[in-house]
Amino acid sequence: MQERTFHIITFGCQMNVHDSQWLGGALRARGFAEAPLEDAQVVVVNTCSVREKPEQKVMSALGRIRQVTGGDARVLVGVAGCVAQQLGTAFFEKEPQVRLVAGSDGIGAAPAAVERLLEEPDLRLSLLDFTDSYVEREAGAPGPANPVAYVNIMQGCDNFCTYCIVPYTRGRQKSRASGAILDDCRAALENGAREITLLGQNVNAFGRDKHGDGTSFARLLALVAELPGLERLRYVTPHPKDMGPEDVEAFAALPQLCPRLHLPLQSGSDVVLRRMHRRYDSAAYLDMVARLRAARPDLALSTDLIVGFPGESGTDFAATLEMVRACGFMSSFSFCYSDRPGARAALLPGKIPSAVARERLLRLQALQDDLGAHWLQARVGASTTLLLEGPSPREGDAAAPSWQGRDPYGALVHVPLSAGQDYSGKMARVRITEAKKHSLMAQVQGALW
Ligand code: SAH
Ligand code: SF4
Ligand code: F3S
Repeated sequence: MQERTFHIITFGCQMNVHDSQWLGGALRARGFAEAPLEDAQVVVVNTCSVREKPEQKVMSALGRIRQVTGGDARVLVGVAGCVAQQLGTAFFEKEPQVRLVAGSDGIGAAPAAVERLLEEPDLRLSLLDFTDSYVEREAGAPGPANPVAYVNIMQGCDNFCTYCIVPYTRGRQKSRASGAILDDCRAALENGAREITLLGQNVNAFGRDKHGDGTSFARLLALVAELPGLERLRYVTPHPKDMGPEDVEAFAALPQLCPRLHLPLQSGSDVVLRRMHRRYDSAAYLDMVARLRAARPDLALSTDLIVGFPGESGTDFAATLEMVRACGFMSSFSFCYSDRPGARAALLPGKIPSAVARERLLRLQALQDDLGAHWLQARVGASTTLLLEGPSPREGDAAAPSWQGRDPYGALVHVPLSAGQDYSGKMARVRITEAKKHSLMAQVQGALW
């Protein structure tokens, strides 16, 4: 174990990834250095409870930490994020090495708590209170230059979809002040970012809570798009019911806004959507897709889907398959419904046997594989731009040196570029030459910039 070192293990969504990056930066600013698990003095597990499996991963991560560190009491273990928010101080009983639990809003005070806990070895601290408004966090040390940056615009969610734990673990929706968001965007651009993704659980409801400063989501997009040096702008996750006409219009008006939208559908059945409390139906979703594609004809759509929601009949599931086909998603994340104690759907009758749900999931994923392959195939021959992110992972010795990046649609593209030079953060004009199973191959045309 080395003094003043840390190691963070992250599960869950992009917001958790972002929280972990912030925590790392804040600890570095306090003189800590990142280290492998076996050497670290401070180990933080940032957790997710959106489904049952992510929750199980936390317990196995804690088990692994105990094994690797030999249960050394000098190693400070912290649990942060959504499972910490839910289980709270129960972690102190579950695992003696755990001396810090920090929930969704509590994580902001975690760096100071870590310092205190290192000085007071018999102390345990829990940071579980929800704050009334978005508390700005201390500025950390900037991480390594990063061409792709994420900026939080809000915390929490007010939607209470009946299957979902997030409103309970992340609390009520709290928008950040637009000035603070723009400052973070400027700092990211100064640190080498060329692409920014705005983050939140329901981004297009930004500003529509008592903490809003009068700036709408569409206005925020326009303000960020104007920042000098920004090539690409994205956001996750919007809710179909909150996509207003001005959000659609942004796809026509802002060239920096990438032609890709992750728009969670969850189910294609109106009966199921109602029981999920999603507050749109399949016709409204299709109408939204048509308006989006009218604003940006090349828009690529992706989505989230749940199969086996309580009461989902074969006909309901067929409606989901039909909607997936009708929308032509380039990709989707799909999950078997998982009971979340505390969320309302856990009390609904008509639970679907897991074998039935699994079979539906496989059929849905087979359809998505076809649609995804079709989408990639249709890209062959197109000219596009890439933001280069890093060398492609080598597949055996035969692989020629190649770099990978993302096109404006978020697809992974490999290009042959000489090894031994750092192209990360460069933009390239390319021509797509071939579709692989999950990625594209391309040739560079002209100079990088
Ligand atoms: N705020 C985002 C993301 C929420 S969590 C949104 O509204 O889309 C990410 C995804 O996990 C959800 O879109 C949903 O598809 C899935 N999910 C959430 N709760 C779930 C549950 N109890 N069982 C299965 N999947 C779930
Ligand atoms: Fe969960 Fe629904 Fe909020 Fe998304 S919009 S975080 S699915 S409650
Ligand atoms: Fe998981 Fe919490 Fe994100 S439950 S998906 S880490 S908001």
